Amino acid sequence: PALAPRDRFGRPIRDLRLSVIEACNFRCPYCMPAERVPDGYGFDRASRLSFDEIETLVRGFAALGVRKLRLTGGEPLLRRNLPQLVARLARIEALEDIALTTNGALLAPQARALRDAGLHRITVSLDALDPQRFRAMSGGRGEIADVLAGIAAAEAAGFGALKLNCVVERGANDDQVLPLVERFRGTPHVLRFIEYMDVGTCNGWRRGRVVPSAELRDRIAARWPLRPLGPHYRGEVASRYAFEDGQGEIGFVSSVSAPFCGDCHRARVSADGRLYTCLFAGEGHDLRAALAEGEAALRERVARLWQARGDRYSELRGTPAAPRRRVEMFLVGG
Ligand code: GTP
Ligand code: 5AD
Ligand code: SF4
Ligand code: SF4
Repeated sequence: PALAPRDRFGRPIRDLRLSVIEACNFRCPYCMPAERVPDGYGFDRASRLSFDEIETLVRGFAALGVRKLRLTGGEPLLRRNLPQLVARLARIEALEDIALTTNGALLAPQARALRDAGLHRITVSLDALDPQRFRAMSGGRGEIADVLAGIAAAEAAGFGALKLNCVVERGANDDQVLPLVERFRGTPHVLRFIEYMDVGTCNGWRRGRVVPSAELRDRIAARWPLRPLGPHYRGEVASRYAFEDGQGEIGFVSSVSAPFCGDCHRARVSADGRLYTCLFAGEGHDLRAALAEGEAALRERVARLWQARGDRYSELRGTPAAPRRRVEMFLVGG
């Protein structure tokens, strides 16, 4: 198989989003609602990939063209000894970027060790500033003070500019948008507003709950004028805007109102070693048998699966051609 496989639409694999654990200490209603996902939820521990398996897997993906790795969950900071894993992955030369997506609640005590291990970037989910709203958005599990302490610890550890992701759901946290902008304007951090998506099967998504990015952008710009910025790289997920007064930038991820499947070069692997070729894929492809044979077998299996890829869910949303079964977001980490 080709060393840099292309899928049916000519898209290469550039990013790997690897979930290191399916468990989460939050129950965000848009992802993992508490009434649908019980407390003890999780695979048995034996089905999680080991650090050895993960290293082989990432080396294999890097050989196929992956340059950017994002570690996700569930909540990745629940995975024991995560900094040790990061240190092993940071030694893979072909990787140009290693990032982590976290809800931030457990970040304060781990930020330094992650930095020392060689992690490049951190993205923190942040759906509200008001403590009560924040609690509700985390399914009653999270405290905003812990997340703000995590952000401060990441700054102190040298992470510099963080990305802060806010999923906006109408009637739930759209009143938090302007306060969040006000709070992080003038800092190096980049706040991004994400359209509420119909991921998985248990969040009760309705289109009426989506706040289109254009609406948010107008609301924000009425208070703090904005100027569009070009993408950093081809296929960038967020569209970027600068504050006209020089106080930094914000972004919007608009997968519902403006799908971006055309350039989608992202592969996702769940903590139990399944490849999902789309955030909305119904089925994962088990990689563990190939992984057990070694990196070459893994590469061959992934290349074949990638060449057969024809996913473009966000472009098909709402049409009869859109797949009906969808993986749960907390298994593939967003
Ligand atoms: P960097 O550019 O590496 O900083 O990250 P990113 O912009 O790819 O963003 P991040 O990983 O933080 O994702 C932001 C949001 O976009 C999350 O809610 C993701 O679930 C969503 N997202 C990321 N990739 C995709 C994708 O391929 N399809 C869809 N529909 N949503 C995506
Ligand atoms: N819609 C949009 N983004 C979501 N995420 C989880 N569920 C959804 C959803 N329904 C994303 C958020 C969160 C990340 C871990 O996954 O960006 O920060
Ligand atoms: Fe956990 Fe992230 Fe899902 Fe919230 S969005 S329940 S923090 S995995
Ligand atoms: Fe990629 Fe699927 Fe998202 Fe489209 S919907 S951008 S194919 S992950």
